[in-house]
Amino acid sequence: MSNESTVNDKLIIFDTTLRDGEQSPGASMTRDEKVRIAKALEKMRVDIIEAGFPIASPGDFESVKAVASVIKDSTVCGLARALEKDIQRAGEALKPAVSSRIHTFIATSPIHMKMKLRMQPDDVLAQAVSSVKMARQFTDNVEFSPEDAGRSEIDYLCRIIEAVIDAGATTINIPDTVGYNIPHQFGELIGSLIERIPNSDKAVFSVHCHNDLGLAVGNSLAAVLNGARQVECTINGLGERAGNASLEEIVMAIRTRQDVFGCDTTLDTTQIVPCSKLVSGITGFPVQPNKAIVGANAFAHESGIHQDGILKSRETYEIMRAQDVGWSDNRMVLGKHSGRNAFKSRLNELNIEFSSEQELNEVFTRFKALADKKHDIFDEDLQALVTESALESENESIRLVALRVCCETGETPNATMTLNINGEEQQAEASGDGPVDACFKAIEKLTNTGVNLQLYSVNAITTGTDSQGEVTVRVEKDGQIVNGQGADTDIVIASAKSYINALNKITSSAGRTHPQLGSL
Ligand code: KIV
Ligand code: ZN
Repeated sequence: MSNESTVNDKLIIFDTTLRDGEQSPGASMTRDEKVRIAKALEKMRVDIIEAGFPIASPGDFESVKAVASVIKDSTVCGLARALEKDIQRAGEALKPAVSSRIHTFIATSPIHMKMKLRMQPDDVLAQAVSSVKMARQFTDNVEFSPEDAGRSEIDYLCRIIEAVIDAGATTINIPDTVGYNIPHQFGELIGSLIERIPNSDKAVFSVHCHNDLGLAVGNSLAAVLNGARQVECTINGLGERAGNASLEEIVMAIRTRQDVFGCDTTLDTTQIVPCSKLVSGITGFPVQPNKAIVGANAFAHESGIHQDGILKSRETYEIMRAQDVGWSDNRMVLGKHSGRNAFKSRLNELNIEFSSEQELNEVFTRFKALADKKHDIFDEDLQALVTESALESENESIRLVALRVCCETGETPNATMTLNINGEEQQAEASGDGPVDACFKAIEKLTNTGVNLQLYSVNAITTGTDSQGEVTVRVEKDGQIVNGQGADTDIVIASAKSYINALNKITSSAGRTHPQLGSL
């Protein structure tokens, strides 16, 4: 049975990490990556998972279909412009779902209708109505969004929303597409729509806020206070431009301030941190340390006064418990003497599952190799191992075989790189401004990809100088942007791994989707 419900004190969580989140430059995901994230969202008991935009590309169609095939407890949603071909494609991709939703949209703001659609408001309304009716032929769960509602005229919004509810829309989503709204004003808009639209009680009102002014969460919460009972959000606030409202912030604000909000979600909040790490690992978008709920410092107390208060009574400076959002208390340490059973049971506790014994064995071998280099293996190390193993198993045409780097004060760093490219070992040498620069140049000599490096960042996974370094790179080629990651106790090797990971993604881009559709 689906988690979805329309009870008035229930706030429905609609996660769009796999659709709007994927629209972040460099965040494109493969089908298998999307399935892994969808499973984590299902485990967290997210009500609706927007899995993609099926008409956008064959890869996105296959991803939505794959998610629809494996997810049983959440509703799976596909996005469609208000066009017959989009709706049919979404309907087809969602066929295997136990519970499906089609989300169709058309722009309603004066600027979008005039400049982008070049359509009259009455024609937009007619097209919205016919699209909702068409979507109802595939599922009785249909969501309609008046795109750029945050800059649309309220009288027109009332007219189009009343008409689409009559046509069969069961959820009305009000997007602040460009992140222009201010909380009190957006809250009032939602309240007025619900009050003024005669059939508003026949649909759930939802909001979808972008973060261009840093107000996506504030606007969403203001909407909830004014009657919205679905919020669209993403893990880590990933999304187009400055991102979407962050799921973890919405869910924990509602849960923590039950005295203010007359509703709650049914999410298992202990899955928030593992899910955040999974999304960050797959997309290569690191979470800033001071990010609310999921940042590494979110529950760290540095000042003496705070530490003293916390020791006397946790509530003096903490409004949430770290364990309630999935930060593990029991950071059980594994080491080179840990056996397969201890390893497996810790992974189970971290909700990491494997599809086969062979996959488990591969990660166990990596664990042993890491334990030889690093004394204590923490949960974060295990998560990085699993992410790395999954990254490597997908469409790898370039593999790191060996790397030798020479650095000496006053000398130019030099790297000798051996790669396996399409099954053939090749070696090259290069010098650079630093050891990482030399490595990347050697890789380029061997692969000739001609990519532009747009971002390079290193993060220590745990504390201590024996920590693994986690490197993220973003590269661009012919307008395509991908992120790559790599982790190792040696940050130069981690850097080489991340660059190779990005190149593998660029060269096997067929399965990736980044919607670049013309508008309707
Ligand atoms: O931001 C937006 O308007 C959207 C719609 C498709 C809901 O993502
Ligand atoms: Zn959006």
